Amino acid sequence: MTMATAIDPGPLGVIKIAPSVLAADFGMLAEAVAKVTPGSDWLHVDVMDGHFVPNISLGPPVVSSLRRHTDLYLDCHLMITDPGEYLEPFARAGAQGVTVHAELGDLDHVIAEARALGLRIGLAANPDTEFEAIDRYLDAVDLVLCMTVFPGFGGQAFMAEVLPKISAVATAIDERGLAVELEVDGGIDLETTPLVVAAGATILVAGSAIFGASDPLAATNSIRSAALAAAR
Ligand code: DX5
Ligand code: ZN
Repeated sequence: MTMATAIDPGPLGVIKIAPSVLAADFGMLAEAVAKVTPGSDWLHVDVMDGHFVPNISLGPPVVSSLRRHTDLYLDCHLMITDPGEYLEPFARAGAQGVTVHAELGDLDHVIAEARALGLRIGLAANPDTEFEAIDRYLDAVDLVLCMTVFPGFGGQAFMAEVLPKISAVATAIDERGLAVELEVDGGIDLETTPLVVAAGATILVAGSAIFGASDPLAATNSIRSAALAAAR
């Protein structure tokens, strides 16, 4: 049964900016999202279960509330131990994409179930997770998310040691002619944007660099400009 509606992720291979609402004021989410919407392609929604990562954030009810206030593509990053248990609630809540972590092991069933629900599916890898764990699923997913911090918290420092893995994923996608997007998440700001874009990232998630700025829309636009300059 397909439950998600009208999934249009936008053009592939073109730079997308995805503000992470984790850094927004949860008491004013709709207002925070409205501010950045004119400069945003997707909205990145960090779901944490207090088990896969040592933090708890939000779940399907908040996604459902966001859905009522925005038309942006909701890119749900599931930092949770049992994603299979929650795919249907996220699809019902209006998520368009879910990204699950490679560290969980065998993901064949979760990938198949996400597709059956009409969700786009991504594969996330922690900074110390090897390229091989991504490679295994590269032709089965729509997106690869290379974490440039250890997941669990916003506002951490970018880990430049992940750049070679981002390049390796970009090269593999290219060589195999796959329609897979390459997202980066963690410590993305004006300084790190050129590095990840040069490595081949096409979707940039940024939390504190956007919602921590005095003008979140201007910050979003600046990150896009820096990304486009580096892509040339
Ligand atoms: C971290 C989350 C990130 C986080 C990024 O676990 O997955 O999406 O919000 O925040 P910044 O951009 O502040 O590093
Ligand atoms: Zn995230």
